[in-house]
Amino acid sequence: MKILATGRYLPEKVLPNSYFAKALETSDEWIFSRSGIKERRIASEAESSSYMGAQAALDALAKSGISAEEIGMIIVGTSTSDYIFPSTACQIQAVIGAKNASAFDIQAACTGFLYSLIMAHQFLKSGTCKNILVIGVDKLSAIIDWQDRSTAVLFGDGAGAVIVQANNNGEHGHGHLLAFDMGADGNQEKILYVPNCNTVRTNKIDISNGTAMVMSGQEVFKHAVTEMAKSAKKTLETAGLTLDDVKCVIPHQANMRIVKVLADRLKIPQEKVFTNLERYGNISAACIPVALSEAEKHYNLQPGDKVLMVAFGGGLTWASAVMEW
Ligand code: UT7
Repeated sequence: MKILATGRYLPEKVLPNSYFAKALETSDEWIFSRSGIKERRIASEAESSSYMGAQAALDALAKSGISAEEIGMIIVGTSTSDYIFPSTACQIQAVIGAKNASAFDIQAACTGFLYSLIMAHQFLKSGTCKNILVIGVDKLSAIIDWQDRSTAVLFGDGAGAVIVQANNNGEHGHGHLLAFDMGADGNQEKILYVPNCNTVRTNKIDISNGTAMVMSGQEVFKHAVTEMAKSAKKTLETAGLTLDDVKCVIPHQANMRIVKVLADRLKIPQEKVFTNLERYGNISAACIPVALSEAEKHYNLQPGDKVLMVAFGGGLTWASAVMEW
Protein backbone atom coordinates (compact mmCIF):
# COMPACT_ATOMS: atom_id res chain seq x y z
CA MET A 1 0.00 0.00 0.00
CA LYS A 2 1.40 3.39 -0.88
CA ILE A 3 0.03 6.84 -0.28
CA LEU A 4 -0.66 8.59 -3.60
CA ALA A 5 -1.81 11.86 -2.04
CA THR A 6 -3.11 13.53 1.08
CA GLY A 7 -5.69 16.30 1.36
CA ARG A 8 -7.51 18.33 3.97
CA TYR A 9 -10.33 20.77 4.55
CA LEU A 10 -10.68 23.09 7.52
CA PRO A 11 -13.60 25.51 7.84
CA GLU A 12 -12.64 29.15 7.45
CA LYS A 13 -14.19 30.31 10.69
CA VAL A 14 -11.57 30.56 13.43
CA LEU A 15 -12.77 30.59 17.02
CA PRO A 16 -10.03 31.79 19.41
CA ASN A 17 -9.94 30.98 23.13
CA SER A 18 -11.01 34.57 23.81
CA TYR A 19 -14.52 33.63 22.56
CA PHE A 20 -14.93 31.17 25.44
CA ALA A 21 -13.36 33.57 27.94
CA LYS A 22 -16.28 35.92 27.19
CA ALA A 23 -19.02 33.29 27.05
CA LEU A 24 -18.06 30.90 29.88
CA GLU A 25 -16.25 30.84 33.18
CA THR A 26 -12.86 30.11 31.65
CA SER A 27 -9.77 31.86 30.29
CA ASP A 28 -7.28 31.68 27.46
CA GLU A 29 -4.64 30.88 30.09
CA TRP A 30 -6.61 27.86 31.45
CA ILE A 31 -7.40 26.47 28.01
CA PHE A 32 -3.88 26.85 26.64
CA SER A 33 -2.03 25.63 29.73
CA ARG A 34 -4.34 22.59 30.25
CA SER A 35 -4.75 21.56 26.61
CA GLY A 36 -2.29 23.40 24.34
CA ILE A 37 -5.15 24.76 22.23
CA LYS A 38 -5.24 28.40 21.10
CA GLU A 39 -7.96 28.31 18.48
CA ARG A 40 -10.15 25.91 16.54
CA ARG A 41 -12.13 25.92 13.26
CA ILE A 42 -15.90 25.85 13.46
CA ALA A 43 -18.04 24.71 10.52
CA SER A 44 -21.00 26.71 9.29
CA GLU A 45 -24.38 25.07 8.90
CA ALA A 46 -23.60 24.39 5.22
CA GLU A 47 -20.30 22.74 6.09
CA SER A 48 -21.65 19.34 7.05
CA SER A 49 -19.42 16.31 7.57
CA SER A 50 -20.11 15.11 4.03
CA TYR A 51 -19.26 18.55 2.62
CA MET A 52 -15.97 18.80 4.52
CA GLY A 53 -15.06 15.19 3.69
CA ALA A 54 -15.74 15.75 -0.02
CA GLN A 55 -13.57 18.88 -0.06
CA ALA A 56 -10.68 17.01 1.58
CA ALA A 57 -11.16 14.18 -0.94
CA LEU A 58 -11.10 16.60 -3.89
CA ASP A 59 -7.91 18.17 -2.51
CA ALA A 60 -6.25 14.73 -2.36
CA LEU A 61 -7.62 13.70 -5.77
CA ALA A 62 -6.21 16.81 -7.44
CA LYS A 63 -2.70 15.80 -6.29
CA SER A 64 -3.04 12.05 -6.83
CA GLY A 65 -2.70 11.69 -10.59
CA ILE A 66 -5.76 9.45 -10.76
CA SER A 67 -9.37 10.26 -11.60
CA ALA A 68 -12.36 9.83 -9.28
CA GLU A 69 -13.54 6.95 -11.49
CA GLU A 70 -10.39 4.97 -10.68
CA ILE A 71 -11.28 4.84 -6.98
CA GLY A 72 -12.59 1.38 -6.08
CA MET A 73 -13.64 2.02 -2.48
CA ILE A 74 -14.35 4.91 -0.11
CA ILE A 75 -14.01 4.38 3.64
CA VAL A 76 -14.93 7.24 5.97
CA GLY A 77 -14.10 7.33 9.67
CA THR A 78 -16.65 9.56 11.37
CA SER A 79 -18.92 9.72 14.37
CA THR A 80 -20.84 12.75 13.10
CA SER A 81 -22.38 11.53 9.86
CA ASP A 82 -24.98 13.82 8.31
CA TYR A 83 -27.63 11.12 8.44
CA ILE A 84 -28.13 7.74 10.08
CA PHE A 85 -28.09 6.60 6.45
CA PRO A 86 -26.98 7.04 3.74
CA SER A 87 -23.42 6.90 4.98
CA THR A 88 -21.11 9.90 4.68
CA ALA A 89 -19.02 7.78 2.29
CA CYS A 90 -21.99 7.39 -0.10
CA GLN A 91 -22.68 11.11 0.01
CA ILE A 92 -19.03 11.85 -0.79
CA GLN A 93 -19.01 9.28 -3.60
CA ALA A 94 -21.82 11.21 -5.30
CA VAL A 95 -20.17 14.63 -4.86
CA ILE A 96 -16.77 13.62 -6.23
CA GLY A 97 -18.14 11.35 -8.97
CA ALA A 98 -16.41 8.15 -7.84
CA LYS A 99 -19.01 6.06 -9.59
CA ASN A 100 -17.00 2.82 -9.52
CA ALA A 101 -16.42 2.88 -5.77
CA SER A 102 -18.15 0.98 -3.00
CA ALA A 103 -18.63 3.23 0.03
CA PHE A 104 -19.15 2.84 3.77
CA ASP A 105 -18.45 4.49 7.13
CA ILE A 106 -16.49 3.22 10.13
CA GLN A 107 -17.49 4.42 13.59
CA ALA A 108 -14.60 4.33 16.06
CA ALA A 109 -14.80 7.94 17.32
CA CYS A 110 -11.37 9.63 17.21
CA THR A 111 -9.75 6.34 16.11
CA GLY A 112 -12.03 6.16 13.05
CA PHE A 113 -9.40 7.19 10.51
CA LEU A 114 -6.77 4.70 11.61
CA TYR A 115 -9.31 1.88 11.78
CA SER A 116 -10.34 2.85 8.21
CA LEU A 117 -6.76 3.04 6.93
CA ILE A 118 -5.97 -0.39 8.37
CA MET A 119 -9.11 -1.76 6.73
CA ALA A 120 -8.09 -0.19 3.39
CA HIS A 121 -4.72 -1.91 3.74
CA GLN A 122 -6.48 -5.29 4.07
CA PHE A 123 -8.58 -4.71 0.94
CA LEU A 124 -5.53 -3.64 -1.07
CA LYS A 125 -3.54 -6.61 0.18
CA SER A 126 -6.28 -9.04 -0.78
CA GLY A 127 -6.43 -7.55 -4.28
CA THR A 128 -10.05 -6.41 -3.91
CA CYS A 129 -9.29 -3.02 -5.46
CA LYS A 130 -6.40 -0.89 -6.61
CA ASN A 131 -7.16 2.58 -5.23
CA ILE A 132 -8.96 3.43 -2.01
CA LEU A 133 -9.97 6.83 -0.68
CA VAL A 134 -9.79 6.98 3.12
CA ILE A 135 -11.27 9.98 4.93
CA GLY A 136 -11.45 11.09 8.55
CA VAL A 137 -14.04 13.78 9.18
CA ASP A 138 -15.87 15.12 12.19
CA LYS A 139 -18.06 18.07 13.06
CA LEU A 140 -17.87 17.93 16.83
CA SER A 141 -19.15 21.49 17.18
CA ALA A 142 -22.58 20.01 16.39
CA ILE A 143 -22.56 17.51 19.26
CA ILE A 144 -21.03 19.42 22.16
CA ASP A 145 -22.84 21.34 24.84
CA TRP A 146 -21.62 24.89 24.26
CA GLN A 147 -22.35 25.72 27.90
CA ASP A 148 -20.11 22.92 29.22
CA ARG A 149 -16.67 24.46 29.68
CA SER A 150 -15.07 21.07 30.32
CA THR A 151 -15.73 19.94 26.72
CA ALA A 152 -16.71 22.97 24.60
CA VAL A 153 -13.21 24.48 24.62
CA LEU A 154 -11.48 21.32 23.39
CA PHE A 155 -13.04 20.39 20.07
CA GLY A 156 -13.24 21.65 16.48
CA ASP A 157 -14.28 20.64 12.96
CA GLY A 158 -12.37 19.43 9.91
CA ALA A 159 -11.58 16.68 7.43
CA GLY A 160 -8.52 14.90 6.10
CA ALA A 161 -8.16 12.40 3.26
CA VAL A 162 -5.60 10.03 1.80
CA ILE A 163 -5.66 8.05 -1.41
CA VAL A 164 -3.87 4.74 -1.08
CA GLN A 165 -2.89 2.38 -3.86
CA ALA A 166 -1.96 -1.30 -3.96
CA ASN A 167 1.77 -1.67 -4.21
CA ASN A 168 2.91 -3.31 -7.44
CA ASN A 169 5.89 -4.74 -5.60
CA GLY A 170 3.65 -6.69 -3.27
CA GLU A 171 4.45 -6.33 0.41
CA HIS A 172 8.16 -5.76 -0.12
CA GLY A 173 8.30 -2.50 -1.99
CA HIS A 174 8.13 1.09 -0.85
CA GLY A 175 5.15 2.56 0.83
CA HIS A 176 3.43 -0.14 2.72
CA LEU A 177 1.91 -0.44 6.11
CA LEU A 178 4.66 -2.28 7.98
CA ALA A 179 2.64 -3.13 11.08
CA PHE A 180 -0.42 -2.08 12.99
CA ASP A 181 -2.32 -2.66 16.22
CA MET A 182 -5.99 -2.13 17.03
CA GLY A 183 -7.85 -2.34 20.33
CA ALA A 184 -11.07 -1.48 22.15
CA ASP A 185 -12.54 -1.54 25.65
CA GLY A 186 -16.32 -1.30 25.66
CA ASN A 187 -16.40 -1.46 29.46
CA GLN A 188 -15.34 2.18 29.56
CA GLU A 189 -18.21 3.48 27.41
CA LYS A 190 -19.45 5.98 29.98
CA ILE A 191 -16.21 7.98 30.31
CA LEU A 192 -16.66 9.39 26.80
CA TYR A 193 -19.94 9.14 24.96
CA VAL A 194 -22.70 10.92 23.06
CA PRO A 195 -26.14 9.50 23.92
CA ASN A 196 -27.76 10.46 20.63
CA CYS A 197 -27.21 12.95 17.88
CA ASN A 198 -28.65 14.18 14.67
CA THR A 199 -26.33 16.79 13.33
CA VAL A 200 -27.61 17.77 9.95
CA ARG A 201 -31.18 18.92 10.28
CA THR A 202 -30.76 21.70 12.78
CA ASN A 203 -26.97 21.73 12.99
CA LYS A 204 -27.44 21.82 16.74
CA ILE A 205 -28.36 19.19 19.25
CA ASP A 206 -31.08 19.73 21.75
CA ILE A 207 -29.05 19.58 24.95
CA SER A 208 -32.20 19.62 27.06
CA ASN A 209 -32.66 16.01 25.92
CA GLY A 210 -29.26 15.11 27.34
CA THR A 211 -27.81 14.35 23.93
CA ALA A 212 -24.50 16.23 24.11
CA MET A 213 -21.06 14.70 24.53
CA VAL A 214 -20.25 13.57 28.06
CA MET A 215 -16.61 13.18 29.07
CA SER A 216 -14.75 12.34 32.28
CA GLY A 217 -11.62 14.20 31.21
CA GLN A 218 -9.15 12.83 33.75
CA GLU A 219 -10.25 9.21 33.22
CA VAL A 220 -9.99 9.58 29.45
CA PHE A 221 -6.57 11.21 29.86
CA LYS A 222 -5.21 8.22 31.81
CA HIS A 223 -6.54 5.62 29.38
CA ALA A 224 -5.34 7.67 26.39
CA VAL A 225 -1.69 7.79 27.48
CA THR A 226 -1.62 4.15 28.64
CA GLU A 227 -3.25 2.63 25.56
CA MET A 228 -1.50 4.82 22.99
CA ALA A 229 1.94 4.11 24.49
CA LYS A 230 1.25 0.34 24.65
CA SER A 231 -0.15 0.25 21.12
CA ALA A 232 2.70 2.25 19.59
CA LYS A 233 5.30 0.02 21.26
CA LYS A 234 3.53 -3.12 20.07
CA THR A 235 3.37 -1.87 16.48
CA LEU A 236 7.05 -0.93 16.42
CA GLU A 237 7.96 -4.30 17.88
CA THR A 238 5.89 -6.13 15.25
CA ALA A 239 7.58 -4.10 12.52
CA GLY A 240 11.01 -4.83 14.04
CA LEU A 241 11.72 -1.10 14.33
CA THR A 242 12.79 1.31 17.05
CA LEU A 243 11.88 4.97 17.33
CA ASP A 244 15.29 5.82 15.87
CA ASP A 245 14.05 4.34 12.58
CA VAL A 246 10.97 6.60 12.56
CA LYS A 247 11.07 9.98 10.83
CA CYS A 248 8.03 11.35 12.61
CA VAL A 249 5.18 10.42 14.92
CA ILE A 250 1.62 11.58 14.33
CA PRO A 251 -0.34 11.22 17.56
CA HIS A 252 -4.03 11.87 18.11
CA GLN A 253 -4.36 15.60 18.79
CA ALA A 254 -6.48 15.76 21.97
CA ASN A 255 -4.25 17.51 24.48
CA MET A 256 -0.64 18.71 24.38
CA ARG A 257 -0.10 17.24 27.84
CA ILE A 258 -1.22 13.80 26.57
CA VAL A 259 1.18 14.15 23.63
CA LYS A 260 4.04 15.10 25.98
CA VAL A 261 3.44 12.18 28.37
CA LEU A 262 3.25 9.86 25.37
CA ALA A 263 6.53 11.23 23.97
CA ASP A 264 8.17 10.78 27.40
CA ARG A 265 6.94 7.21 27.77
CA LEU A 266 8.11 6.30 24.28
CA LYS A 267 11.31 8.34 24.70
CA ILE A 268 10.75 10.24 21.46
CA PRO A 269 12.35 13.66 21.01
CA GLN A 270 9.66 16.35 20.79
CA GLU A 271 10.80 17.49 17.33
CA LYS A 272 9.82 14.11 15.89
CA VAL A 273 6.25 14.50 17.17
CA PHE A 274 3.94 16.49 14.89
CA THR A 275 1.23 18.59 16.51
CA ASN A 276 -1.29 21.09 15.18
CA LEU A 277 -3.79 21.12 18.03
CA GLU A 278 -2.79 24.66 18.93
CA ARG A 279 -4.55 25.71 15.69
CA TYR A 280 -7.35 23.17 15.36
CA GLY A 281 -8.11 21.68 18.77
CA ASN A 282 -9.33 18.09 18.79
CA ILE A 283 -10.95 17.32 15.43
CA SER A 284 -11.56 13.69 16.32
CA ALA A 285 -11.32 11.31 13.33
CA ALA A 286 -9.85 14.14 11.23
CA CYS A 287 -6.85 14.64 13.56
CA ILE A 288 -4.52 12.08 12.02
CA PRO A 289 -5.22 12.66 8.29
CA VAL A 290 -5.10 16.45 8.65
CA ALA A 291 -1.84 16.17 10.63
CA LEU A 292 -0.47 13.70 8.07
CA SER A 293 -1.21 16.09 5.22
CA GLU A 294 0.65 18.88 7.07
CA ALA A 295 3.50 16.63 8.27
CA GLU A 296 4.19 15.54 4.69
CA LYS A 297 5.47 19.04 3.93
CA HIS A 298 6.82 19.81 7.40
CA TYR A 299 9.17 16.80 7.41
CA ASN A 300 9.60 16.69 3.60
CA LEU A 301 8.61 13.02 3.69
CA GLN A 302 10.38 10.92 1.07
CA PRO A 303 9.93 7.31 -0.10
CA GLY A 304 11.34 5.04 2.57
CA ASP A 305 10.66 7.40 5.51
CA LYS A 306 8.76 5.72 8.30
CA VAL A 307 5.79 7.40 9.93
CA LEU A 308 4.19 6.16 13.15
CA MET A 309 0.53 7.10 13.73
CA VAL A 310 -1.31 6.50 16.98
CA ALA A 311 -4.90 7.31 17.88
CA PHE A 312 -7.32 7.01 20.78
CA GLY A 313 -11.01 7.75 21.20
CA GLY A 314 -14.45 6.94 22.56
CA GLY A 315 -15.48 3.31 22.70
CA LEU A 316 -12.89 3.16 24.04
CA THR A 317 -10.92 2.52 20.87
CA TRP A 318 -7.27 2.85 19.95
CA ALA A 319 -4.96 1.97 17.08
CA SER A 320 -1.47 2.54 15.78
CA ALA A 321 0.25 1.91 12.48
CA VAL A 322 3.72 2.40 11.11
CA MET A 323 3.94 3.07 7.45
CA GLU A 324 6.73 3.49 4.96
CA TRP A 325 6.16 6.60 2.87
O1 UT7 B 1 -10.21 12.53 21.75
C1 UT7 B 1 -10.21 11.82 22.95
C2 UT7 B 1 -11.08 12.49 23.91
N1 UT7 B 1 -10.60 13.42 24.83
C3 UT7 B 1 -9.44 13.49 25.48
O2 UT7 B 1 -8.50 12.80 25.24
C4 UT7 B 1 -9.39 14.48 26.63
C5 UT7 B 1 -8.64 13.94 27.82
N2 UT7 B 1 -8.66 14.82 28.96
C6 UT7 B 1 -8.10 16.05 28.98
O3 UT7 B 1 -7.56 16.49 27.99
C7 UT7 B 1 -8.12 16.83 30.27
O4 UT7 B 1 -8.54 15.99 31.34
C8 UT7 B 1 -9.02 18.11 30.23
C9 UT7 B 1 -8.38 19.16 29.33
C10 UT7 B 1 -10.39 17.74 29.73
C11 UT7 B 1 -9.16 18.70 31.64
O5 UT7 B 1 -7.90 18.98 32.19
P1 UT7 B 1 -7.57 18.51 33.68
O6 UT7 B 1 -6.25 19.04 34.01
O7 UT7 B 1 -7.78 17.03 33.75
O8 UT7 B 1 -8.65 19.30 34.52
P2 UT7 B 1 -9.76 18.72 35.50
O9 UT7 B 1 -10.84 18.05 34.73
O10 UT7 B 1 -9.10 17.97 36.60
O11 UT7 B 1 -10.35 20.07 36.09
C12 UT7 B 1 -9.56 20.91 36.95
C13 UT7 B 1 -10.40 22.10 37.34
C14 UT7 B 1 -11.78 21.72 37.84
O12 UT7 B 1 -12.11 22.64 38.87
P3 UT7 B 1 -11.93 22.22 40.41
O13 UT7 B 1 -12.81 21.01 40.60
O14 UT7 B 1 -10.48 21.93 40.59
O15 UT7 B 1 -12.40 23.45 41.12
C15 UT7 B 1 -12.68 21.99 36.66
O16 UT7 B 1 -14.00 22.31 37.04
O17 UT7 B 1 -10.61 22.93 36.19
C16 UT7 B 1 -12.02 23.18 36.04
N3 UT7 B 1 -12.29 23.35 34.61
C17 UT7 B 1 -12.11 24.52 33.99
N4 UT7 B 1 -11.72 25.72 34.44
C18 UT7 B 1 -11.65 26.72 33.54
C19 UT7 B 1 -12.70 22.42 33.72
N5 UT7 B 1 -12.80 22.98 32.50
C20 UT7 B 1 -12.45 24.28 32.64
C21 UT7 B 1 -12.34 25.37 31.76
N6 UT7 B 1 -11.93 26.55 32.24
N7 UT7 B 1 -12.61 25.25 30.43
